[in-house]
Amino acid sequence: MASLQSFSLRQSPYGSARGDIDTNELSYQQLKVRIHERLVDVLDLSMLAHVAKDELAREVRTLTQEVLSDEAPTLASDQRGRMLDDVYDEVFGLGPLEPLMRDDSISDILVNHPHEVFVERSGRLEPAGVMFADQQHLMRIIQRIVSRVGRRIDEVSPMVDARLPDGSRINAVIPPLALDGPTLSIRRFGRRPLQIEDLVEAGSLRDDIVDFLAAAVDARVSFLISGGTGAGKTTLLNAITKYIPLDERLITVEDSAELQLQHRHVIRMETRPPNNEGVGEVTPRSLVRNSLRMRPDRIIVGEVRGPEALDMLQAMNTGHEGSLTTIHANDTRDALFRLELMIAMSGFELPINVVRQYIASGISLVVHLSRLKGGVRRVMRVSEIVGVRDGGFHLEDIFGFEQTGVDELGIAQGEFYFTGYRPMCLGRLRASGIRLADELFDRRRIPVKG
Ligand SMILES: Nc1ncnc2c1ncn2[C@@H]1O[C@H](COP(=O)(O)OP(=O)(O)OP(=O)(O)O)[C@@H](O)[C@H]1O
Ligand SMILES: [Mg+2]
Repeated sequence: MASLQSFSLRQSPYGSARGDIDTNELSYQQLKVRIHERLVDVLDLSMLAHVAKDELAREVRTLTQEVLSDEAPTLASDQRGRMLDDVYDEVFGLGPLEPLMRDDSISDILVNHPHEVFVERSGRLEPAGVMFADQQHLMRIIQRIVSRVGRRIDEVSPMVDARLPDGSRINAVIPPLALDGPTLSIRRFGRRPLQIEDLVEAGSLRDDIVDFLAAAVDARVSFLISGGTGAGKTTLLNAITKYIPLDERLITVEDSAELQLQHRHVIRMETRPPNNEGVGEVTPRSLVRNSLRMRPDRIIVGEVRGPEALDMLQAMNTGHEGSLTTIHANDTRDALFRLELMIAMSGFELPINVVRQYIASGISLVVHLSRLKGGVRRVMRVSEIVGVRDGGFHLEDIFGFEQTGVDELGIAQGEFYFTGYRPMCLGRLRASGIRLADELFDRRRIPVKG
């Protein structure tokens, strides 16, 4: 803990933006931290392991009341009640984050600074209405989260990415890497993941687009889901896996397990970072390679980021059609360009044309997503990779979304469009006994509201 004292407490360049903090709330938090410290001094920590939880909870409440009468005898009774609950969360839970973790409408919790906590609800970022007393307080909660999942964070390894027991993903960065003090981001996955019906309801895609994607998944057409950070790539990937026939054997490879597949035969694998001595790393590439020896029907890579792209493509080209993955990219062409770079990183020294041909024969569709103004996520473009022509990818758009403006609430408005293009992969769909109405692909535009 000594290293905490050495945190750079210099003024944040954004200090002025945090100038309007709620001073009542701040003194409340400071009081809570003082009570907690005194409590830790008097609580017999050795008894924690032996005493039943309710008894301990009673003990903590009684002690809190005693310390409270001493520290803040004039505290209003509603504040006193709140303090009893909050000190409990401080001792056993995640302090100020505990009520946020219980709130199912929150999808992300972002702590930029002890006094600046944001949450995302229904796609929109808003102030969370909670704060930490100071950097040490925030640091203590970060330490607790990290140590609960068997990891550590300190000056030697100041960055941790981990999964909580409830499936949420946490990322913490502390000084010296984080210049203005510890920061924490929590992506909540413990809740019921969004289903395809929820995505249609939210206007992210339409039933007719779902019909096509579902048929493609069922018929083992391989595809790539691309998009920027938080665009909803993992969510869509998770949702469309329900169209994979239940008897297929699926192997998932992720950096931090987020997918929640409902299949009977699912083997989940997670990569491992190197330990503090720099050994023991297990890369996505070695997991993808190993998964090929596990008799998979399909391989699902949570997100391709590096040389594992080559092994995944090899799988897609050699009998594991229908494999799916996501990629971070700004648009469809950028996604393919990044894939080429990743393949180049794997030491596959072949002319670019051959690499492109390999991508085009392994992957049939690219579904690109965006997070638009106001937090709405949309399927922006579904394209088919027809092949390679004149040295470049020959892509044909099947559907898309065109943003035409924003409404009075700042929420993106626009139209879904169907280009009239009949995908080549329809042949594959027919061969697997799936027939889609021909009108599905008729050229048309459909405005969407909200
Ligand atoms: N269509 C949607 N409508 C509303 N919210 C969504 C939608 N899709 C995803 N979300 C929410 O957005 C957040 C980010 O989703 P997700 O993790 O799927 O994005 P991602 O593109 O995979 O992000 P990353 O770049 O971090 O991998 C989640 O909290 C999720 O619940
Ligand atoms: Mg993701």
